Amino acid sequence: MRLIAFEGLDGSGKSTLIQEISAQLTTKGQAFVITREPGGTPLGDEIRHLLLRTTGDAPVPRAELLLYEAARAQHVERVIRPALAEKKWVLCDRYTASSVAFQAGGRTLPRENIDWLNDFATDHVRPDLWILLDLSAEDAFRRMEGRKLDRFEREAREFHERVRAGYLALARENPAEWMVLDARQAAVELCAQLVAEFKNRGWWP
Ligand SMILES: Nc1ncnc2c1ncn2[C@@H]1O[C@H](COP(=O)(O)OP(=O)(O)OP(=O)(O)O)[C@@H](O)[C@H]1O
Ligand SMILES: [Mg+2]
Repeated sequence: MRLIAFEGLDGSGKSTLIQEISAQLTTKGQAFVITREPGGTPLGDEIRHLLLRTTGDAPVPRAELLLYEAARAQHVERVIRPALAEKKWVLCDRYTASSVAFQAGGRTLPRENIDWLNDFATDHVRPDLWILLDLSAEDAFRRMEGRKLDRFEREAREFHERVRAGYLALARENPAEWMVLDARQAAVELCAQLVAEFKNRGWWP
């Protein structure tokens, strides 16, 4: 029963790795929940639509941040806290680090405001471990070729490079709580590294 946050650019392989590790947890008879941000709840999914749609009134950066935080508060109370209380693992596709990387790194909003809002929205529920699937914007774009792109995925290459740099800076700030993976590796290899990390930490059943 650990809260694991998976972070990285769109197309970096978060969903794929979550599926791989969940299969490993299943073979160990471990209960888990897979969830994502923005979203994870009915209200959060409505907010997700407002954030990612490519039509209609696009939120200005501060409105964008606040929408993420509103969805997050709902997600923590309705999904994450209850699952942890039931002693389940929570595999969370994006969490507060995404707001730092995208809204501070990408949109250049002040970091201190984002940190405060993240703490408020989560009520200080923090992951046991952050996984960063580190990939260049170029490689991530290549993986998304042929896909219908959302509002963020349509941002310029430089935006995504700033997001990547934002994630790497966060990981450097707190190396004990971050595991940085080279996302160019095969998913099974990434999963094996993650299981090894869980074993090292004494978390693996
Ligand atoms: N380790 C990997 N090596 C090569 N290709 C991969 C790897 N992991 C995922 N892919 C492929 O890259 C694409 C994006 O992967 P995935 O959907 O898992 O990324 P994501 O981080 O969840 O993206 P998004 O944020 O858009 O949901 C998919 O086509 C997937 O099959
Ligand atoms: Mg995904």
